[in-house]
Amino acid sequence: MSQIPSVLFVCLGNICRSPLAEAAFRKALADRGLEADVDSAGTGGWHVGEAPDPRAIRTAATAGIDISHYRGRQVCTADFTRFDHIVAMDADNFSTLAATSGAAGTATLSLLLDHVPGREGQSVADPYYGGESGFAATWSDVQTGANALLDHLIAAQGL
Ligand code: 4NP
Repeated sequence: MSQIPSVLFVCLGNICRSPLAEAAFRKALADRGLEADVDSAGTGGWHVGEAPDPRAIRTAATAGIDISHYRGRQVCTADFTRFDHIVAMDADNFSTLAATSGAAGTATLSLLLDHVPGREGQSVADPYYGGESGFAATWSDVQTGANALLDHLIAAQGL
């Protein structure tokens, strides 16, 4: 059994923000010698089976992380019981998740930036239609959020 609760990161397409959040969280876990069940998914299904956006792949690569093998998938009903935490990148994703979870869902839903003191309720901006600089901002936000989330989970586990 994992020491750290399982976490699913969710955005709209699962090719930009949530793969980067997954990568940042995996890096934060590895840096601390911890393991957990971690994945990412999209509320939309347009990019199922696809690799992350090339700009996201390049952004992760600048931090020495290869995400080119990640593949897009859509959130499914089983996710709401498989994962302890489902972490949305923005308010729209959060609303979709809350509406989809249903009575059987056991996962705790949150926004990624809810875990960052002073940024509660904020969204990670969607970089898809912008330029490369938007991806640097995304990477900064998801790193901050992933590290704060892990700090929170570690404290809650008493580790
Ligand atoms: P993401 O970005 O939700 O961060 O993966 C997007 C990717 C694709 C689309 C929208 C946002 N799309 O409309 O295809």
